[in-house]
Amino acid sequence: MQNSTAPAPSQSQLHWPSLSTFLNLRDPKPKPTLLLYSFLFLSLLSLTLILSLSFTSPSPHSGPDPFLHPIFHTHKPSTPSPPSLAYLISGSHGDSPRILRLLRATYHPLNLYLLHLDPSAPHADRDHLALSVQSDPVFKAAQNVHVVGRPDFAYHKGSSPVSLRLHAAAILLRLSQNWDWFVSLAADAYPLVTQDDLLHILSFLPKDMNFVNHSSYIGWKEAKKLKPIIVDPGLYLSEGTEMFYATQKRELPSAYRVFTGSSFSILSRSFMEFCILGEDNLPRILLMYFANTPSSLSNYFPTVLCNARQFNRTVINQNLLYAIHDSHRNDLRPLNSTDFDDMIHSGAVFAQKFQNDDPVLDLIDQKLLGRSPRSIVPGGWCLGEPGNNTCLTWGDAKILRPGTGSQRLEKAIVELLANGTFRSRQCIYE
Ligand SMILES: *[C@@H]1O[C@H](CO)[C@@H](O)[C@H](O)[C@H]1NC(C)=O
Ligand SMILES: *[C@@H]1O[C@H](CO)[C@@H](O)[C@H](O)[C@H]1NC(C)=O
Ligand SMILES: *[C@@H]1O[C@H](CO)[C@@H](O)[C@H](O)[C@H]1NC(C)=O
Ligand SMILES: *[C@@H]1O[C@H](CO)[C@@H](O)[C@H](O)[C@H]1NC(C)=O
Ligand SMILES: *[C@@H]1O[C@H](CO)[C@@H](O)[C@H](O)[C@H]1NC(C)=O
Repeated sequence: MQNSTAPAPSQSQLHWPSLSTFLNLRDPKPKPTLLLYSFLFLSLLSLTLILSLSFTSPSPHSGPDPFLHPIFHTHKPSTPSPPSLAYLISGSHGDSPRILRLLRATYHPLNLYLLHLDPSAPHADRDHLALSVQSDPVFKAAQNVHVVGRPDFAYHKGSSPVSLRLHAAAILLRLSQNWDWFVSLAADAYPLVTQDDLLHILSFLPKDMNFVNHSSYIGWKEAKKLKPIIVDPGLYLSEGTEMFYATQKRELPSAYRVFTGSSFSILSRSFMEFCILGEDNLPRILLMYFANTPSSLSNYFPTVLCNARQFNRTVINQNLLYAIHDSHRNDLRPLNSTDFDDMIHSGAVFAQKFQNDDPVLDLIDQKLLGRSPRSIVPGGWCLGEPGNNTCLTWGDAKILRPGTGSQRLEKAIVELLANGTFRSRQCIYE
C-alpha cells in the first residue's frame, strides 16, 4: 500500500532545475539530455511567444498593459517567480474526510485555503475539521488553511452558490494580498496535476487570465433555465427548504448579453476584486438579476466577464476541468478508473465528479501526484527523506519541482492559445 514509486517527482527533480540553468545559457557542462532540454525550452519559448503575440493588442485603456508579463522585459531568462492560488473547498454533510483529502492533494505553502461545510453538516463536523487542520504540523506552521465557522447555505440549483463564492473570495482577499487566482472546488473534485506543476505553468501566464467555459448561444434548453423566476431559500432562511418557482416567466434581458457556462472556473484576483470591491455597478446589477434565476453559478461569472470591457479580452473559453455531463440526469457522471486515461490525455488540471474514496483517486494519488495515503503531495519545498513525512522538513516554498503533469498542462495551454484561435472563441455573440 505504501509502495511509493512516485516516478514523476523524482524524474522531474533531475530535469527541471536543469531547465532553468539551461535557460540561463551559462551552464558550462553540456548534458547528454540536451535534446530534451531544447525541446522543453522551445515549447516554453513558444508559450511565451504566443502570449506576447496574442496579448499585445492595444488596449483602449491607458496604463500598463496587464498582459505584458515580466518575462518579456527581463534580460535574465530565468523561471518567473511562482504565483499563488486561493482555494475555496466546500462540501456538505459527511464531506469533511474528503475535504481533508482534497486539501492534502492540492496543498502548497504558497497558496491560501478556505474550507467550508454548509449548514447540512452538524457543527461538530466543522469543529473536527478545524481541529484536524490545527493538529497537522504543516498546516499549523504555514497558517494558510482556514475553516469557515459560520457557514452559508448553498443550493446547488439556486443562486446561493454565487453568494457563497463571493463571500469566500471577499474573505480570501482580506486574508492575503498575495494570491493571484481564485479556485472554488467542490468536495467531489480532485486534482490531476501537482501544485508544483500548476504553479510552474501559471507562472508563465498573464495573471489576468480567466479560465471560464462560456457561450452566448441561448437555445430552448438554456432559455428554460433562464426564464423562470425562482426564490432561493438559501438567501433568507436559516434552514433548507425547497426552492420556490414563480408561475410567471420573464423575457431574457436586453440591457446586457447573457452568457451561459459551467459552474467551475479559475478566476483572476483582479476580476474578483472587480466583482467584490469594484466601483463599476455591473457585477451588482447582474447579481440582482441572477439572484432569481436557477443555476446562476454557471452563468453569473461568464456574464460579468463578457459584459465588462476591461475583462472581456481576458477570458479563455476552457475551464481546465475534466467532467462528463450526463444529459439524462442533468448532472455530472461519476468518473472511475475507466476514465483514467482520458483524464490524463485531456491535459486538465482538475476532474469532477468522483464518488467518495473511489479507487481511481488512489490511482491518481499514486500515478499523478506521488502522494502516499494521508500525506501531502510532495513538492520542491519538501526536503525530508522520501516516505511519510517528507514535507515536515521545509525548504524554500518558491522552489518548484514540476513533473510530467506540467508537460501535459503546458501542451494543453499551448494548444489552447495557438494561432490566437482562442480570440475567436472569446465572448462571441451567437
Ligand atoms: C469587449 O468590449 C469592447 C467594448 O465594449 C468591444 O468593443 C469588444 O468587441 C469586446 N470584445 C469581446 C471579445 O467581446
Ligand atoms: C469547457 O469547454 C471545453 C472547450 O470548449 C470543452 O471541451 C469542455 O467539455 C467544457 N467543459 C464543461 C464542463 O462544459
Ligand atoms: C465506470 O463507469 C462507467 C459508466 O458509468 C461504467 O460503464 C464502467 O463499467 C465503470 N468502470 C468501473 C471500473 O467501475
Ligand atoms: C508511513 O507510516 C505508516 C504508519 O504510520 C508506517 O507503517 C510506514 O512504515 C511509514 N512509511 C514510511 C516509508 O516511513
Ligand atoms: C496552428 O498553426 C499550426 C502551424 O501553422 C497548424 O499546424 C495548426 O493546425 C494550427 N492550429 C489551429 C488550431 O488552427
